[in-house]
Amino acid sequence: MFSDRSNWNLSPNALSLLLQRKKSAGDIVFDLTESNPTRVGLDYDAETILAALAQPQSIVYQPDPRGLEEARQAIAAYYRDRGQRLEIDSILLTASTSEAYSILFKLLGNPKDEILIPRPGYPLLFYLACFESLQSIAYPLRYDVRKGWFIDMDVLPALITPNTKAIVLVNPNNPTGSYVKQQELAALDAVCRRHDLALIVDEVFSDFETAAAPDRVRTAVNRSGALTFVLNGLSKMVGLPQVKLGWIVVGGDPDLAKAALSRLEMMLDFYLSVATPVQHAAQRLLCGCKAIQRQMLARITTNGRFLAERVASDRQQPCAAPGRRLVCDHQDIRRGLRRRPRSATARARQYAGTSGLFLRIQQGGICGRQPVDPG
Ligand SMILES: Cc1ncc(COP(=O)(O)O)c(C=O)c1O
Repeated sequence: MFSDRSNWNLSPNALSLLLQRKKSAGDIVFDLTESNPTRVGLDYDAETILAALAQPQSIVYQPDPRGLEEARQAIAAYYRDRGQRLEIDSILLTASTSEAYSILFKLLGNPKDEILIPRPGYPLLFYLACFESLQSIAYPLRYDVRKGWFIDMDVLPALITPNTKAIVLVNPNNPTGSYVKQQELAALDAVCRRHDLALIVDEVFSDFETAAAPDRVRTAVNRSGALTFVLNGLSKMVGLPQVKLGWIVVGGDPDLAKAALSRLEMMLDFYLSVATPVQHAAQRLLCGCKAIQRQMLARITTNGRFLAERVASDRQQPCAAPGRRLVCDHQDIRRGLRRRPRSATARARQYAGTSGLFLRIQQGGICGRQPVDPG
């Protein structure tokens, strides 16, 4: 009766089971992973937000598959403030970044084609690809105490096959918070051009810089090179996932970008999924983004400091109790990955073999040629 793509494992993972157990036992849980910004005590300017969403022109329905010009102008102004001049014709609106991914996967892939996604990474990517009948292949981000997180550029190209269609970058990445570096983007761009792949760059967290990173890529808009799709939206930028507005900025190779834009416009016309009120509200909501971002950054900094203190105090004690494994695992991974085979294929295989180590910190997912299943 049902499609394979909706046949997923609905059983809760070990982390949610543990959380449920702790909550029902009445334990106090400090959930540093709470991801709903409207539930963490931020001070929203409710009056301005609600007034922006209730403008009289919203009563008129005048759909444009690319999104209303007024909203695309507001988005262009957002990039202008960050030093980037964009043609509004390169901007397409979607109801969310997740929807943007789905549309792009439909644009780029035939069933069973592959996309490369980062691991550790945002688990929803696996499902979004799966709904479009694509296979997600994880490429590894590695951690070095001095350098921090980086993309393993030996392994990534070895994962490309004739079925690969795109490389997804999440910058900064969820959950590592790490940035794509300028030289990494340049190297990936060359890989994409060599293999006719598109780059999809998710920048939903790009405004949230918690530490100075001079060599980070601030945005991938306005680049020449491989066909590039930059994704962003209001969900994180203004802390309002419920207002539902995302966008795609199409760039890179001009001929490919032009062809992509006309195909995307057609696809978006079938859905017309972006509501009118949020498009009229876009300019005012974007103007208010700094106030909410300041509060979010303060929260991230406080949570980060708390975590760092806990890790430091854990390091001073042996990690004997099961509940304290997390800190040890970080060391285990480093030890496990230090023995690096020479060939890229062997290293890709090693990543597959070290899945157990990754499993411990992120409750699912492996890196290697096997399709990813966050479980
Ligand atoms: C990296 C990343 N991209 C996209 C999204 C989804 O954004 P949206 O609410 O616009 O669909 C999230 C949500 O957590 C995310 O973490």
